[in-house]
Amino acid sequence: MNDTVAIVLAAGLGTRMKSDRPKGLHSLAGSPLIHWPVGAALDAGCSRVVVVVGHGADEVEASVRKRFPGADLVFPRQEQQLGTAHATLCAREAAEGFRSALLINGDLPLLTAGTLRSLGSAFAASGGAFALVTASVDDPGGFGRIERGPGRGIERIVERRDATAEQTAIHEVNVGVYLARTDLLFPLLDRVGDTNSVGEFYFTDVVKMLRQQGFQVGDLVLDTPEEAMQVNDRIELAACELALHLRHARQLMSEGVTLHRPASIMIDPDCTVGRDSEVWPSVEMHAGTRVGQRCIVGRGAVLSGVTVADGVEIKPYCVLTDSIVEDDCKLGPFSHLRPASVMRRGAHVGNFVEMKKTDLGAGSKANHLTYLGDCTVGRKVNIGAGTITCNYDGVNKLPTVIEDGVFIGSDSQLVAPVTVGHDAYVAAGATITKDVPPGALALTRVTQVHVDGYVQRKRLKQGSR
Ligand code: UD1
Ligand code: CA
Repeated sequence: MNDTVAIVLAAGLGTRMKSDRPKGLHSLAGSPLIHWPVGAALDAGCSRVVVVVGHGADEVEASVRKRFPGADLVFPRQEQQLGTAHATLCAREAAEGFRSALLINGDLPLLTAGTLRSLGSAFAASGGAFALVTASVDDPGGFGRIERGPGRGIERIVERRDATAEQTAIHEVNVGVYLARTDLLFPLLDRVGDTNSVGEFYFTDVVKMLRQQGFQVGDLVLDTPEEAMQVNDRIELAACELALHLRHARQLMSEGVTLHRPASIMIDPDCTVGRDSEVWPSVEMHAGTRVGQRCIVGRGAVLSGVTVADGVEIKPYCVLTDSIVEDDCKLGPFSHLRPASVMRRGAHVGNFVEMKKTDLGAGSKANHLTYLGDCTVGRKVNIGAGTITCNYDGVNKLPTVIEDGVFIGSDSQLVAPVTVGHDAYVAAGATITKDVPPGALALTRVTQVHVDGYVQRKRLKQGSR
């Protein structure tokens, strides 16, 4: 589709969202609404995407540019929202030089690149003037209705609000995706009027105008009507998000991933899970998370921007953000990996262990109630229960280094900046403020004393009062 320009309409306020935010910037399944159709158009091979913006124009433009750097994007403004035909005319200049234009309503998050390419075939097969996507749906609601002639060819689109009772009963609807020859389309749009129930310039009027001029209107009828789902309000936003997650879940299952109760799982479409991995209910994965093969992701885990290698076991209720977990690690339950944490091969973190900007070496373990911040931990280190790095002096974050083979006794505090040399022992209950030499035992306890007979004397004294 490299002689095709995509035009995505996103100027509308989205009144039914009842929001101060432009409709296109409401997120679903990890991305703002407008990113979905723009992404589909680029994936389908359109060489330029023109996004017609109005409400929140600058914000919408910035968001799309950030998501698709390097793409040929143009953002004409539609100052007043006078209807879909008027919005398309705002893209006229940016569409110059392209043979055909793919027009997409900006509120169709489930639309796929595959459907756009199939529309290209339907367009060519019907004479290369105009083609559109339709769907047969159980509840045609507010969609425009498709009216077909005696030969079953499409004759016109009737908007719901202008439809007769007979037309309202039609179940084949206009999805809001069209492919048109540009030299035909723009002159026709100039002639679209606004004599209808709401006084808007309807893009859909071009269909009957083309038929009047004897052009054939091609169609692509969707096999999966879910692609027609649009977002007009928050209820539809939720329905579309669920459909996006379930579609991705089906894809993962077809590739060999076990999902327990998939309807409760939110794996955003930009996330991947490898074969023979198993995901338990209420798990969330966001922001390009990648989970390898043969992993277990336990109930309630929330992974965002995380890379997990193979054979990793994440027990229930872990939260991992912008971190890396290498092969065969074990985490949880209730572990927290904050940004820039790395667990090397075979490392373990257990319940109520928090890591931040910490590199935990291969085979090292911190199994209970521990905070490791700004810390580099070598290989085969054992960190006892309740160990805490004191990494913040109120102004600066300071580093802790724990070298290979170290044993940190329970309930120790490591006051950064500090280094514990390789193979050293830190005795339980230590407060380490100075570097520990390799192989040494660091002991900071006050010597334990016993006062013999103390209790008996105390009780006698109390009794005598
Ligand atoms: C439109 C179609 C309808 C179709 C439905 C499917 C028309 C007249 N009707 O109705 O046949 O079944 O989509 O999704 O086209 N927009 C602008 N500027 C405007 C008006 C709209 O940019 O002046 C944008 C909106 O932001 C939205 C898109 O165009 O992204 C569609 O507008 P919307 O108001 O949602 O149209 P529908 O009533 O859903
Ligand atoms: Ca709509």
